[in-house]
Amino acid sequence: MQRPYVIVSAAMSIDGFLDDDSEKRLTLSNAADLDRVDEVRAGVDAIAVGAGTVRADDPRLLVRSEERRAARAAAGRPSSPLRVVFSPSGELDRSARLFDGREPVPIVYTSGVGARVCPLGARHAEVVPVGEDTVDLRRALDDLAGRGVKRLLVEGGGIVHTAFLSADLVDEAHLAVAPFLLGERGGARFVGAAAFPQSPRRPLRLVEARAIGEIALMVYRRDVASPYDRNIP
Ligand SMILES: NC(=O)c1ccc[n+]([C@@H]2O[C@H](COP(=O)([O-])OP(=O)(O)OC[C@H]3O[C@@H](n4cnc5c(N)ncnc54)[C@H](OP(=O)(O)O)[C@@H]3O)[C@@H](O)[C@H]2O)c1
Repeated sequence: MQRPYVIVSAAMSIDGFLDDDSEKRLTLSNAADLDRVDEVRAGVDAIAVGAGTVRADDPRLLVRSEERRAARAAAGRPSSPLRVVFSPSGELDRSARLFDGREPVPIVYTSGVGARVCPLGARHAEVVPVGEDTVDLRRALDDLAGRGVKRLLVEGGGIVHTAFLSADLVDEAHLAVAPFLLGERGGARFVGAAAFPQSPRRPLRLVEARAIGEIALMVYRRDVASPYDRNIP
């Protein structure tokens, strides 16, 4: 398997929630931190989210800054990274903003079962089955690498973070922590319960910690060689 360099990025409360339990998405970041994330987006080849995030937030996953889009285009790259969704069920809404026909259309990695029920046509997305009942992330990453994706930004949500981290497929994690707790009002968590290789026996390496206004940004990198590292471009 070859795979891209994988960056996980999330904003969370002190107690690890990505959102609260209301219908409206909670703002966990400030303008300066959102601009930092936009810069990270502009530096990658693809941005991925889980189907839960598409359903909850209806994101567009584009580089927001006009200057950054222009700089990418001047360098011969698409103005925004390739957009990717993980959806084993294939149950996605054609009216989501991601599927509005903007080229290149997003890639939806799904299961064989999901591909059969997925309502998206070729003008909405490229639907790629990678597993019969589930989404095999290694196959998806291999496919992305084959499309020239060298750096992948995974922007949530918690289920997808959990899948990537527990499968030891994360090279870097950007965690922005907002100065409050959500407790019983918390919604999705950064990660769920799983067996994580990033344990006390094999911790991540803290490479940056800084304040962005009231937000604490922490950047971690994996520090050990994995059998897959050989194939990272
Ligand atoms: N604060 C932040 O930085 C941030 C960022 C992103 C999202 N969020 C928030 O997070 C929440 C959504 O997170 P979430 O945890 O509910 O959903 P999610 O991780 O975005 O997506 C979950 C979906 O991923 C698919 N999936 C399940 N297991 C998988 C696996 N092993 N590999 C690949 N795909 C798999 C399933 O899709 P199917 O159902 O199609 O089978 C599942 O429903 C929302 O509240 C959103 O606002 C916050």
